[in-house]
Amino acid sequence: MAGRGHPRARVLRTGAGFVARLVIVSNRVAVPEEGGKAVAAGGLAVAVKEAFTAYEGLWFGWSGNIADDPSEEPTLIDRGRVQYAVVDLSPQDHREYYAGFANRALWPIMHYRLGLGAFSRSDYAGYCRVNRIFARQLAKLIEPDDIIWVHDYHLLPLASELRGLGIANPIGYFHHIPWPAADVFNSLPASGDLLRAIADYDLIGLQTDPDVQNLHRNLCDTLRAIPLGGGSLMVDGRRTRIRSFPIGIDVAGFREAAERAGSNKVVRDTIAGLRTRKLLIGVDRLDYSKGVPERMEAVNRFFASNPDQRGNVVYIQITPKSRSEVPEYEQLSREVNETVGEINGSLGEPAWTPIQYVTKAYPRTVLAGLYRAARVGLVTPMRDGMNLVAKEYVVAQSEEDPGVLVLSKFAGAARQLPEAILVNPYDHFEVAEAIRTALYMPRGERLERWRPMAERMTREDVDWWARNFLSELENFRTVEREPPTAAAAAE
Ligand code: UDP
Ligand code: G6P
Repeated sequence: MAGRGHPRARVLRTGAGFVARLVIVSNRVAVPEEGGKAVAAGGLAVAVKEAFTAYEGLWFGWSGNIADDPSEEPTLIDRGRVQYAVVDLSPQDHREYYAGFANRALWPIMHYRLGLGAFSRSDYAGYCRVNRIFARQLAKLIEPDDIIWVHDYHLLPLASELRGLGIANPIGYFHHIPWPAADVFNSLPASGDLLRAIADYDLIGLQTDPDVQNLHRNLCDTLRAIPLGGGSLMVDGRRTRIRSFPIGIDVAGFREAAERAGSNKVVRDTIAGLRTRKLLIGVDRLDYSKGVPERMEAVNRFFASNPDQRGNVVYIQITPKSRSEVPEYEQLSREVNETVGEINGSLGEPAWTPIQYVTKAYPRTVLAGLYRAARVGLVTPMRDGMNLVAKEYVVAQSEEDPGVLVLSKFAGAARQLPEAILVNPYDHFEVAEAIRTALYMPRGERLERWRPMAERMTREDVDWWARNFLSELENFRTVEREPPTAAAAAE
């Protein structure tokens, strides 16, 4: 049970003071290898793994494997305070649920990219089927006092499915990506079902207040939900609450990694290779929401209008491949390769390559050192729920000589980092101008912008995020229980 076995574990309570176990559910699970190292797999896995270090419990989700005949029983893996329960997907489930509905319909719609959305009824059926299978598998592992925290758009109908199986525990949902305006969301043929399903969560967490307004308004307009004040709503006779909980990072750990990174070979070699050149850095999964080709065009524009900077500035773009089985991602990969080739071919010299483009994933210990070495952090997504890279860049800077963050105003992070140079990523001229401003910014102004951002990141870190969400979720006691024994109450 949570809080019983480890002195650092936080205690969750449910019912009349019972100690509760935390059950996390997400499609992507960061199972640490033996020895404790987890493989990086995007913001959700990074943040949930870090948040989990303060709790004990169970993490349920996809193993990352595709199997012709997946077992009905999850594989259980014990790693100290966290137990992992992971399941394989069949090729059809993977195609319809993950690559299909989640990543070809929901992902583009949630990111306001209607033109990229590809809805198919069979994909939607596969999405619902996998949620049903997950619910069945998970239900067997649930204990009466568990608190269940579900993550992200792959699992919108999960609470509904669990309720159908009689699970009455508090169930919360956190949506890591944007929640779009009603007109955009409702263009999805399954939107009505999904809105009804999400209302089965007791607590719905979104990244920003505009996301909250979008969902709240949509539930009221489309489902005639009744607002009860304070973010609570009555939807079809059930009460739910919607609030923003901006996700944070492990600030102390990341800062320490950045301070130590100078001893890392990749970081050392990269810095040595720069010589006196200034570094612009971008780190993103290869995803069209991140605006990578658009950013490259802006860098091209910067060199075109600042010819004196050619040879003096290098842009390193680290872009691990992502969801390559989805055609739109395949297409993006080709587009970025072409863009890099054209820019390097037309601007480069034998002794200078303007864009260094890498599709390998790097551990965050290496990224921390590269961020610290970079004079400018380029985080210019076309739309992003939060964007942890922006936060990591800020935290990795040295207090003596901080770099400058150029940040898209369409990233959720912009609301907590307003002192960055905020840009419209659709405007190459504006981004090119921001790069110039950042490169020439005097130390005094850099410090003035960086300090409040670093302080805010420290206050609003990943632990603050999880604590806020869970302390609210604890209050949803859907089952009446016996009062705790004196021993349990004393814990
Ligand atoms: N990341 C990593 N190695 C890489 C690239 C990215 O560990 O090579 C991490 C990065 O440090 C960040 C996360 O992946 O913690 C990406 O999160 P973000 O919110 O920026 O974007 P997402 O990929 O979740 O859309
Ligand atoms: C974003 C999503 C996560 C997802 C991650 C990596 O951060 O919000 O749910 O896990 O991207 O994508 P993948 O498809 O590899 O899990």
